[in-house]
Amino acid sequence: MDKKALEALLSEMSLEEKVMQLVQIPGSEYEADAEITGVTRGQADEKVKRLAGSTLGVWGSKRLKKIQENYMKEHPHHIPLMFMLDVIHGHKTVLPCPLGQGATFDPEAVKKGAAMQAKEASSDGVHATFSPMADLCRDARWGRIMESTGEDKYLNSCMATAMVEGYQGEDLKDPEHIAACVKHFAAYGAGEGGRDYNNTELSEHTLREHYLRAYGEAIKKNPAMVMTSFNTINGIPATGNTFLMKKILREEFGFKGVLISDWAAVGEMINHGFAEDQKDAAFKAMMAGVDIDMTSGCYSGYLEELVKSGEISEKMLDEAVLRVLNMKNDLGLFEDPFREIDMEEGASVTEESRKLARKTVAESLVLLENKAQALPLRKERNAFIGPFVNTKRLQSSWAFSGEDENTVTVFEAASEIYESGNIKFAEGCTMMDQDSVTARGVCHMENWQEENEKLLSEALEAAKWADTVILCLGEDSTQSGEATSKASLKLPAVQLKLLDELSKIGKRIVTLIFTGRPLELADVAKLSDAMLVCWLPGTEGGNGVMDVLSGKTSPSGRLPVSFPYTVGQEPLHYDMYSTGRPKPASGPSEYTSRYLDCENGALYPFGYGLSYTTFEYSGASLSKEKMTSGETLTASVKVRNTGDMKGDVTVQLYIRDITGSRVRPIRELAGFKKISLEPGSEEIVSFKISEEMLRFWTAEEKWDSEPGRFNVWLCDSSVDGETLEFRLD
Ligand code: GLC
Repeated sequence: MDKKALEALLSEMSLEEKVMQLVQIPGSEYEADAEITGVTRGQADEKVKRLAGSTLGVWGSKRLKKIQENYMKEHPHHIPLMFMLDVIHGHKTVLPCPLGQGATFDPEAVKKGAAMQAKEASSDGVHATFSPMADLCRDARWGRIMESTGEDKYLNSCMATAMVEGYQGEDLKDPEHIAACVKHFAAYGAGEGGRDYNNTELSEHTLREHYLRAYGEAIKKNPAMVMTSFNTINGIPATGNTFLMKKILREEFGFKGVLISDWAAVGEMINHGFAEDQKDAAFKAMMAGVDIDMTSGCYSGYLEELVKSGEISEKMLDEAVLRVLNMKNDLGLFEDPFREIDMEEGASVTEESRKLARKTVAESLVLLENKAQALPLRKERNAFIGPFVNTKRLQSSWAFSGEDENTVTVFEAASEIYESGNIKFAEGCTMMDQDSVTARGVCHMENWQEENEKLLSEALEAAKWADTVILCLGEDSTQSGEATSKASLKLPAVQLKLLDELSKIGKRIVTLIFTGRPLELADVAKLSDAMLVCWLPGTEGGNGVMDVLSGKTSPSGRLPVSFPYTVGQEPLHYDMYSTGRPKPASGPSEYTSRYLDCENGALYPFGYGLSYTTFEYSGASLSKEKMTSGETLTASVKVRNTGDMKGDVTVQLYIRDITGSRVRPIRELAGFKKISLEPGSEEIVSFKISEEMLRFWTAEEKWDSEPGRFNVWLCDSSVDGETLEFRLD
């Protein structure tokens, strides 16, 4: 439909119809077994159901076609309903959770994964996803760090833009693509105490320098939607925050798409103490420019009254409605409300989608320890032990449209590789301690003690038989995701006991950690000969893990987030400030910025990861020692594969602005390149450094670079590399 026709349609709509285009109701209003991802408010009334502009949490080509047919028949102007769903790391074929995808340092792979998700979701009738989550996350206590790509603004920018491009493709009318939604705007990862729905205290400088960057970069790719976050920023809820939504999002970022609230976030401004009642909440959300109210009922209950009284102008309402109609039009819904989807087939896992998922899993795994080349596994007696060995629950709590039965477990994959006589399996212990709290409630087993005694005894028998124990531990998928903040980052005590008992047998122990967040692993590392972080790897988890354990492919993942010595260090991030008395790398440290009982930095730092081969960096150099703002310089380093296996290596570029009108981080990631090297081969890796890359939010409250000295590192993680220096004049 062309612009004039859309405007003509708008002019024909009643006030009630227009208001309802801004209302999103749960899919359970249309389909009983919809996925409910928030606290529901009871049933919508018939009018709302008949006129609501969009719904969320339902999928399936046949049933969505039936809903759409009934809906459009009832609608006075037959405007199609929009179907939205959280497809954040998979629909039928579930990829590694986003934190694992961040660990690939491979935006191209992530873009392909998003395109695959879009194709599957679209064939199930979905029009829009609530992804990418571009929140910067420095606090492992926050369970939603699992849904992010980590703690670095540059890496998150690369990943969020890749996802928007993958989901949306070149044209939203292409039925194999779906609308993207950049969330949670903004700074949801900075909640006090690492807790959801909480306040964030951020200076404008920190907000702009770190937390807004990835959203801004992703919005340059024209996502159809942005979602408001649940938190307050310096005391003002994002969902009613005109500075954030009008000045930053609309004016500075130039976002012209649909701004949707998070689930019930409009109404929750009452709980925050920012809105008097639902009518006030509706007013404040509209004034901030929120186009769609997700499930709170404030718009459906009070917006028409607000317009009739003149508190909200009909012009403002029309602008919001036109943005929603434009989105439906961009999706081609007016021409084809079913977007050519095959009503009979719907989405399914395919060999092709499995292949992509399997490759992404292998790329996401991060090897943290490999003492005496414990990995890759030898063709000998291998005992696979632990609660993650044979569970099909390898996907996150946000992959609810993917069926567990499609998942390949670690043991199933191992059984494909090793002779049955050469492998044994023992569960070893329960996934969680007795009465553990999860997102789905308290986990309690009647015979928990006896069950674990039995499981331990079987595990010790299997370990005695084996040459190597592959111990699969981790955090249950219901213990990360929304509203799963934790004050401890330790593995369950029952799992640590299993490791401790197994270590007494004296066999080689290769520990795999399945998790949606950084955990405290110092004690685990001491008792393990090798340690591999597997994140929540999804449908092809077992095969991807075994491709690396067997040596078919060398691990290449790098940490997208710091792993601490202890939770007491959180929030923890590599791009910290120097302080007035930086703790020296060695020697006396009294009267410096330090902990008496812990290192300042991470146990395993951002950007770190081992390979089965070794790489040597040499000849790091800069093309010149000085540059002016109109010039660039080239930073280069030679990387050689000095081992006997092919391997991928992610060469990282870090820059430090040594002196600024505001203090600057001790390092900031400014580029990365992942290359493959055969044994004995080498490659020169180069990066161009421009003045634009040196800009920051200065004390004069503007983006600018400042003359002075800069350090550069071309290296293998955020803590190593030869220091180079240049001047900007
Ligand atoms: C949830 C989440 C958000 C999600 C939305 C719809 O509360 O905060 O990330 O997209 O509701 O499910």
